[in-house]
Amino acid sequence: MNIGLIGSGGREHALCQKIYESKLVKRIFCLPGNAGTSKLATNLDVDILNFKSVFKIIKNYKIDVVVIGPEEPLVKGLVNYLNKKKVKVFGPNKYAAKLEGSKAFMKKLCKEHKIPTANFQVCINKKQILSFLNKNKLPIVVKADGLAAGKGVTICKSKKRVLDISKEIFKGKFRSSRRVVLEEFLSGEEASYFLIVDKYNFKFFGTAQDHKRVGENDKGLNTGGMGAYSPAPIISKKIEKKIINKIVKPTLNALKKKNNPYKGFLYVGLMIKNGEPFLIEYNVRMGDPECQVILPRLKNDIMKVILNSINDNLKRTKINWKIGKCMTIVLCSKGYPKSYKKNIIIKNLKRIKLDKNSFLFHAGTRLKNQNIYAVGGRVLNFTVIGDNFHKIRKKIIYFIKVLNWGNGFFRKDIGWKIIKK
Ligand code: AMP
Ligand code: GLY
Repeated sequence: MNIGLIGSGGREHALCQKIYESKLVKRIFCLPGNAGTSKLATNLDVDILNFKSVFKIIKNYKIDVVVIGPEEPLVKGLVNYLNKKKVKVFGPNKYAAKLEGSKAFMKKLCKEHKIPTANFQVCINKKQILSFLNKNKLPIVVKADGLAAGKGVTICKSKKRVLDISKEIFKGKFRSSRRVVLEEFLSGEEASYFLIVDKYNFKFFGTAQDHKRVGENDKGLNTGGMGAYSPAPIISKKIEKKIINKIVKPTLNALKKKNNPYKGFLYVGLMIKNGEPFLIEYNVRMGDPECQVILPRLKNDIMKVILNSINDNLKRTKINWKIGKCMTIVLCSKGYPKSYKKNIIIKNLKRIKLDKNSFLFHAGTRLKNQNIYAVGGRVLNFTVIGDNFHKIRKKIIYFIKVLNWGNGFFRKDIGWKIIKK
């Protein structure tokens, strides 16, 4: 069968690699893909939010199944659109995607179903902000309700900052929504738990820990993710049971009751405090760069698993994992997550000799006249699988040094919580 894969990041290159290995797949079309996917698939340049253009490509290239990587087309209803056109598509519908698309929706659902999460208030005016400030201690977390490309969350240590940030959101800084969600600050250790879900069942799809801050020792601005590893040792069997019973099952049941059962990958973002999981966020997709450390550990034919989700047949699917550990470090353009130069050539890629346990997933790259250029903030994901995180990280850093890309920077301390010096 022919697959259409939507997206252009490191997550999509990792998905593309797995789909490429599937025995069921004849051709892959990436919409729009990156320089990495162009070696495995046909890249087709298209605006993925222009659903009509996407559908045209699906018809022209005889695409049988569509896999959606990023959140925006999901939140905007691409699944509903394609279902109406009788196209097989993997991912949640527009209603279910509100778990990520609206923090207010997600928090209200948590409250209704007693799902452990930070205490919160959805605010539409200054009066409500002041009322929450009066009842809660600093720091307070201010969130834009709608999608904000990872820039919608600020942890505020003063009341003034809460008011300033909220004002910007009320004024429409993020076009997706003018509502503000205020939350109490939760301390603890963050971890991510993944599932693949169909109408009736769900299956475990790995754990990971991301590093969101741009600088070493978790300092500096938030980013999309500077590196990750899997599995996340903090998620013990005991904590996993709590995640399933207190968070996942009530959420999936709530969506079923609304006649919009969840389908697709589900990313459960957690804060673990004294052995108790609290829901920080849901993402309605795989994480990026978490996907890049989970998929290399997957033994199954990924298209078989995806088709079983589409056809509500997950019950009979057994998902098998390699025993090994996996880490990825993201090589970024200097300046990221603020402004950075684009269209900088990346030489020396041929110098990197990958073996069967190492992968180089592209993110913001483009192929032009046989050369590879950096066109994004997060550029390359160096990924290694092995049995010791310390050795894995050394091998990754070695690869990055061999590349020696002048416009790049990366965090050398990915995995600091689990690699003891
Ligand atoms: P979110 O987009 O909701 O995942 O928030 C982005 C990041 O902000 C999270 O990964 C956490 O590091 C942090 N964060 C969000 N909400 C809270 C909270 N209530 N308490 C502490 N940290 C938070
Ligand atoms: N790495 C965080 C995310 O994918 O949302």
